[in-house]
Amino acid sequence: MKKIFAANWKLHKNPKESAQFFLEFKSLYKKDDHQVVFFVPSTSASAASESLVESGIQWGAQNCYSEVKGAFTGETSAQVIGELGGQWILLGHSERRSIFAENDELIAKKLQLVQSLGLTPMICIGETLAERDAGNLQKVLERQLTIGLSLADKSKKLAVAYEPVWAIGTGRVASVLQVAEAHQLVHSLIQKLGFTTLPVLYGGSVKADNAKELISTPGVDGFLVGGASLEVKSFLAITDCLK
Ligand code: PGA
Repeated sequence: MKKIFAANWKLHKNPKESAQFFLEFKSLYKKDDHQVVFFVPSTSASAASESLVESGIQWGAQNCYSEVKGAFTGETSAQVIGELGGQWILLGHSERRSIFAENDELIAKKLQLVQSLGLTPMICIGETLAERDAGNLQKVLERQLTIGLSLADKSKKLAVAYEPVWAIGTGRVASVLQVAEAHQLVHSLIQKLGFTTLPVLYGGSVKADNAKELISTPGVDGFLVGGASLEVKSFLAITDCLK
């Protein structure tokens, strides 16, 4: 399975900054046997569309609504992202869950729509520190996957990002052992739900200096990178971690 290195820019970069980043990134990036994906803010969708056309580098939105159009003020249409050439939609990021009160049922509906449009959803799952400390890791991941994937089409593309909430943006990366255990658990839950192998990415304070060790951890099929994806050089160093 090709490793996937995905950038989650969150609410950073305007269209001009995005285009500048892509210009620099493309001039330094050497294609390899992996896939690079940028999850850009929806205001930078056109910039990504223009900058990345025919580059082999893919992009998508960080969220969408569960309907393609209608009276849904403030939402993003996955259909339009697809029309612009985006191939991915990130769903259920912990910030969407905690700040915007998204639940597993809504995420499931979005995922179904994204797949029906021929785009690939990347569903984020992960436990808070309190949930981990209470011994609920398995329970939480099982709930997020069982409900989140309940409407998924098993014949269509899909990716999972395991991101322990306590490791996101904190500089506190999960240990190799914790990552290995969680990824093994996620892969086995996915199998139990009747899916064939899906890529499971790790996210949470991935940086150039821990990428090599983490990518060699069994069950890690790539990364979802926040902070370290905002600078060309630091993200390039991560996409080069297999070398
Ligand atoms: P981080 O964010 O790399 O800054 O921890 C990861 C994410 O939120 O996807």
